[in-house]
Amino acid sequence: MRLTLRLSLSLICGVAAVSLGFALFQARLDTRALRRNLDMHAQALADSLVRSVEPLVERHANRELQRLVDRFKDREQIAGAAVFDVHGHALAMTSDLEERLKENPSLMEPANLQTTPRSRFVRLPTGTIHVVTEPLLAGDTVIGTLSLFHDAGYIDSQAAAIWRHALTGVLIQTILIAAVTLFMLRWGVGRPLQHMAEWLHELRIGVETKAPKMADGGDFEPLTREVTQLASSLTAARAAAENEARLRNLAQSSWTHERLRVFVRERLGGNRLFAVSNREPYEHFHGANGIVWSVPASGLVTAIEPILRACDGTWVAQGTGDADRETVDQFDCVRVPPDHPQYSLRRVWLSEEEEKGFYLGFANEGLWPLCHIAHTRPVFRVEDWEYYQTVNRKFAEALLEEMESEDEPVVLVQDYHFALLPRLIKQVRPDARVAIFWHIPWPNPEAFGICPWQSELLDGLLGADLVGFHLQAHCNNFLDTVDRALESRIEREHFAVNRHGRNTLVRPFPISVAPDPDEPLQPMELPHVERVRLLGNLGVRATFLGVGVDRVDYTKGIPERFRAIERFLEKYPAYRREFTFVQVGSPSRTSIGRYHDLMDEVVAETERINRRFQTSEWKPIVFLNRHHSHREILPYYRTADFCMVTSLHDGMNLVAKEFVASRDDEHGVLILSRFAGASLELSDALSVNPYDTEQLADSIRSALEMSPEERRARMQRMRSIVREHNVYWWAGKLIDELCQIRPASATAPAEETAAPVPYRMS
Ligand code: G6P
Repeated sequence: MRLTLRLSLSLICGVAAVSLGFALFQARLDTRALRRNLDMHAQALADSLVRSVEPLVERHANRELQRLVDRFKDREQIAGAAVFDVHGHALAMTSDLEERLKENPSLMEPANLQTTPRSRFVRLPTGTIHVVTEPLLAGDTVIGTLSLFHDAGYIDSQAAAIWRHALTGVLIQTILIAAVTLFMLRWGVGRPLQHMAEWLHELRIGVETKAPKMADGGDFEPLTREVTQLASSLTAARAAAENEARLRNLAQSSWTHERLRVFVRERLGGNRLFAVSNREPYEHFHGANGIVWSVPASGLVTAIEPILRACDGTWVAQGTGDADRETVDQFDCVRVPPDHPQYSLRRVWLSEEEEKGFYLGFANEGLWPLCHIAHTRPVFRVEDWEYYQTVNRKFAEALLEEMESEDEPVVLVQDYHFALLPRLIKQVRPDARVAIFWHIPWPNPEAFGICPWQSELLDGLLGADLVGFHLQAHCNNFLDTVDRALESRIEREHFAVNRHGRNTLVRPFPISVAPDPDEPLQPMELPHVERVRLLGNLGVRATFLGVGVDRVDYTKGIPERFRAIERFLEKYPAYRREFTFVQVGSPSRTSIGRYHDLMDEVVAETERINRRFQTSEWKPIVFLNRHHSHREILPYYRTADFCMVTSLHDGMNLVAKEFVASRDDEHGVLILSRFAGASLELSDALSVNPYDTEQLADSIRSALEMSPEERRARMQRMRSIVREHNVYWWAGKLIDELCQIRPASATAPAEETAAPVPYRMS
């Protein structure tokens, strides 16, 4: 309020001063105009009189002169007229004037008169008088003067009136402006600020209210944005603190974002953390209204981001957005998240050929189907392999550049795109602690053995101090593969490999999701009401809802799932027109033929099954064929009767865990493939074999008909597992294990490149 008042006062003073200045100027102009008028009028009158007076003076006709000047008596504003000879003696003069001239000799012109007329204003105690004096001539000789006297007092009174009006105007203007300004300041500034203050006060004392609405795009926008972010950080911090307190009460100690932050900082000491992955956490694009950003569909991103946020590290990843180059600095770095920067993203640029050979070719046509037993044949091309090596070296160079000034850096390499990276890093920086986490399954040695470059891949991986997988089974497969393919010593009791005198630990770290989303879940209407509304938006009327969320990838078993839905509707016709399955399908790797064909197959299967059963208001499958943000997916998770994960093979599958984490109502059933890593932890899901259509169809029925008590009991157990083994726990374990490893001294000689030993039969 005080600010509003101060602002108004300064505005009022400014306005008053300016108006006063203008009024002053105007009054002076008006007074001058009045004086000029009188002067002109008097001179004209004197001019015309002179012509009548001159002959009379010449003839010394003083009586006639007197008659002439007497005519000016009693005329409005004229005080009189007088005629003088060259010695200044009055020849004739309007009566009354003589007295005044005697009292005020200043009104008299000197006798030695000029030949040009003269006019002036004379201020007398009785008022101002205007005098105009004209010479009287006979030929070129001055024979006398004529003086005309006007009362100019009326000009003074008019000037006083002008002043009075101007001052009144200034006063009224100032009062009006002050009132309007005060009103506008109170309405436009005071009120919003007051609402914001009330809102912040309520937040501070723990009352959850909605942020006040401020005018969009106005001067308040930056303030509103910052305050809203501050408020949501406060809410999140309070929620985290409450959660910690609640867990302490329950004598549990779950991992939270805050706990990870403290833990990571403490474990890292002063060392800096670096992550490397192919997929970047934020992509920048050209949108209709400028540059926009998005988070790509990737479980890996979900998992690694909290660690980077916790310790302000550096993430090295491929720049793939079409506006990525415009958003980095001269070192190819950008601070992210874009709306709330907490760590650095270093972008690496790949040429089209590199992208094709490294990413599409070797990583996704070779290693991906090699590691997933989903019956898609891996393709190995020598040129792809060469690009894979080139790109691994390129990323190594970028990472080494970033780590240049850091002692004993801690490096988390992500996934099958960078099997060669750990060795490349360690060769140059033996002081670095390097871990690689393999986010996909590791198959048995026979399956992996078909890769022509398995020894080189294994050797690259064993450059790391720690190799992590989701499951113990994947660790075992890896150790078996190393045992078969490389010259090394396997220490099974420690789950370690010793190669050329260096140890690599091999450990399972089942990845997970964040238990508390960034934004706390909004309370929902009754799930079934919300469900009907959600389906209504998709143009479908149904009572029951099933949901699937996947990248459209052949490992996810999407066509198998759809055929199970078809079978379910065949076997249980009562559910026709009652049950709809929404498949959120994010297009992925579409330039690879197999993925392209799969997309066609999924669309065709959707249409075929829908044609078979659909009515004008209902259809069994809705296929939402685009990338959806987590926020968009949430309503489906939270209202679905069940979520279906039917991966033919999957390292972990975070959709299963995301679904469980989102069910704060403790309802909803998870149907989960036993070939997804998550099935080991989530044993309360309905476990299915995605190749078994009958079993899948029956599991849908079981999910829809499960008693609420059983549903709740299962969901409660799953939620407690996901809460306990969440992504912060995963990250904490990984960092903890890695930081316990003693790095080689920074001064130790760099490793020699170990030539990979060819395949060895064991
Ligand atoms: C899997 C991989 C990740 C990858 C993600 C998305 O989760 O393990 O490394 O980022 O799929 O695939 P994309 O090829 O689009 O990165």
